[in-house]
Amino acid sequence: MKVLLTGILGYIGAFMGEALQEAHHRVTGLDTGYYARSVLYDKRRAAPSVIHKDIRRVTEEDVTGYDAVLHLGELSNDPLGQLDPTLTHQINHAGSVGLAKLCKKAGVPRFIYSSSCSVYGTGNGEFKDEQSPVSPQTAYAECKARVEREVAELADDRFSPTFLRNATAFGLAPHFRFDLVLNNLSGLAATTGEIRMSSDGSPWRPLVHVRDICRAFVCALEAPREAVHNQVFNVGDTKENYRVREVAEIVAQAFPGCKIATGNGDKDSRSYRVSFDKIRQALPGFACAMTALDGARELKDIFDRIHLTRELFEHRAFIRLKQIRHLLATSQIDHQLFWN
Ligand SMILES: NC(=O)c1ccc[n+]([C@@H]2O[C@H](COP(=O)([O-])OP(=O)(O)OC[C@H]3O[C@@H](n4cnc5c(N)ncnc54)[C@H](O)[C@@H]3O)[C@@H](O)[C@H]2O)c1
Repeated sequence: MKVLLTGILGYIGAFMGEALQEAHHRVTGLDTGYYARSVLYDKRRAAPSVIHKDIRRVTEEDVTGYDAVLHLGELSNDPLGQLDPTLTHQINHAGSVGLAKLCKKAGVPRFIYSSSCSVYGTGNGEFKDEQSPVSPQTAYAECKARVEREVAELADDRFSPTFLRNATAFGLAPHFRFDLVLNNLSGLAATTGEIRMSSDGSPWRPLVHVRDICRAFVCALEAPREAVHNQVFNVGDTKENYRVREVAEIVAQAFPGCKIATGNGDKDSRSYRVSFDKIRQALPGFACAMTALDGARELKDIFDRIHLTRELFEHRAFIRLKQIRHLLATSQIDHQLFWN
């Protein structure tokens, strides 16, 4: 299929571009490039071509002629979303709904949206599934929920949106992020010898390897239309729900000799445990291949090979909020996050 992939220069997107090419799809990327140079290790193969553009400035012409648009290009986490919640709404909510409307107008039959399990927000350890009410706790999660609702209303015989609610990603990918829980704790283990959680470790988080997210997108893209038309799927594995302190213990297994420490006791209101049964049933080709422990061991191996230093671990290139603050402070982007 001919596919447009937004967010292709990000953590998940860079891998997704490769996964789509390996599955013999013709891929064009679209990305504004906030983290384009955030490369932890060299990529193996040639990347697809990229349209350097903000999703808020995409035209009907940009999306015409594609069989599917896979939409990942947004501000990608809670702290970044809190930097300026109004702006988060402009990009993640209005920008994404606008893109979906353009796709429908241009006759793109499939639209796959990279949503998040963070829409579930809070819980007492009960499993949330796709029927559970959402309870977003941050601007980022609120935008995800609103995009799902509003894009679902566009669905008709010619336009099939699908909403993939990813668990929290981890694992090795070229445009790396250290601001994701397992990657962060692994970086701390490697560079300080101490696995220090930022909370008391009690919140629940479902985890999924970045490559498994890519597999889920490819499966959804290739599934018969009726299996995915206007459907929501949680992306992950029910066995991979952990409390943050359990994630720390897994990291300690992969980085022997490290101490575990709790944070300053701040209560993280975000806690959700998620069922991933629906995707297994609806997309039989999909199953997660990587556990959190596999991911932590893979990170230990690459950190050893590249001699990860504290400086590199803390570098803005791998922490989304730090990089955006740097681009703003150096006037490379304006207060609307457009390039100057
Ligand atoms: N990483 C996770 O744990 C996770 C979990 C659930 C959902 N998601 C979602 O998956 C998507 C990708 O996440 P990621 O971890 O790869 O994030 P990322 O920050 O690494 O990548 C996002 C990419 O989108 C681009 N982008 C941001 N705003 C843009 C704009 N206005 N116009 C064009 N491009 C823009 C960035 O330049 C970047 O390359 C995001 O939508 C994120 O919310 C991620």
